[in-house]
Amino acid sequence: MAWITKDSATQQIERRDEPYLSDEMTSYYTDSILPRYANKRAALLPILHDVQHHVGYLPFQALEEIATFLELTAAEVLDTASFYDDFFLEPVGKHVIGVCQSIACEACGHETMLGHLCSKLNIEPGETTPDGLFTVRTMECLGSCDTAPCALFGEERQDDLTVEKIDALIDKLSGDA
Ligand code: FES
Repeated sequence: MAWITKDSATQQIERRDEPYLSDEMTSYYTDSILPRYANKRAALLPILHDVQHHVGYLPFQALEEIATFLELTAAEVLDTASFYDDFFLEPVGKHVIGVCQSIACEACGHETMLGHLCSKLNIEPGETTPDGLFTVRTMECLGSCDTAPCALFGEERQDDLTVEKIDALIDKLSGDA
């Protein structure tokens, strides 16, 4: 086993002048999100979801702005955002496909499904197609082990996957582009 380290201490954060958290968004959080929770920290997940919904992913600058707004450290916000599969720290395609790689799906052919998907889209897991339409990633158990292999296509779970089913789904989503 080897530890893979990143030199995060000197990592440059891309910044833009306009904040990601607009006045409208912070007013909404103050008026409608924060009152639902016992403290500011507890509002982190819904705010991460909302920012990702607006921006498409969670840039580091946005994580810092969320940290300031919620009086947390940037590290706490990054720890949370990087823990959950639901959050994207880099831009993703219009359609994000998450193939389950946990044990039931692994036993039922997830590797064949993932391989077929990647070769059809000509990308590797974790990559996005050059046209920005599809991102393929691997995920842990989607809670439907009895219908393995399965995957999330956007927010919809697709069960009992076959290569034919994958082809039909990709063709349909490509047509919707
Ligand atoms: S292992 Fe894939 S859904 Fe549970």
